[in-house]
Amino acid sequence: MKRLVVMISGNGTNLQALIDASQSGKLDARIVAVFSNRADAFGLVRAEQAGIPAVTFPLTPYKQAGRPRNDYDGDLARLVAAFQPDLIVLAGWMLILSPLFLSRFPGQVINLHPALPGQFPGTHAIERAYAAFQRGEIDHTGVMVHWVIPQIDAGEVLASAPVAIEAGDTLQELETRTHATEHRLIVEATQMALQRLP
Ligand code: GAR
Repeated sequence: MKRLVVMISGNGTNLQALIDASQSGKLDARIVAVFSNRADAFGLVRAEQAGIPAVTFPLTPYKQAGRPRNDYDGDLARLVAAFQPDLIVLAGWMLILSPLFLSRFPGQVINLHPALPGQFPGTHAIERAYAAFQRGEIDHTGVMVHWVIPQIDAGEVLASAPVAIEAGDTLQELETRTHATEHRLIVEATQMALQRLP
């Protein structure tokens, strides 16, 4: 059974989709740890409820101590490596991972992003897609899962799926539709990534 580490920063609904798929056997992998950079991330509760080790590892103390970002990324990499993951899934992890972290896990990190490839990298992607639709710049949006490289929300795409935007949608309606698509895609793409591991 392949070993997954899932990294989150918030609600963890995509983590939940992975937990459910792992428990039902839809995903041929075991989630061996969940990492969050935020202590208040509800995903940590989801992990604990599923009996998965949950690790909170905030960046703030490093910043407050004036320590370089590589100190955080190096320590984070060591903590993650202790769980011996085959694959690391960034499921709403909102910190950029440095080349130092990524070099420790070459070809082993995938990321979920709530937009189509090349569109709206960074935070608030759904809000920005919604605003772009209002301006008539796009007629639909989407979600993607990609291999992680140092450039934010870029890297070879594993899977993507369109998400419709209807005239008259509220932002919340678009968010709900986007997340529903993510919950399916994150499981499919994780399974695909597992199959591509050496
Ligand atoms: C998801 O929409 C994910 O695509 C996004 O954070 C959300 C986490 O939701 N990630 C990014 O924006 C990365 N750039 P969740 O905590 O409920 O799974």
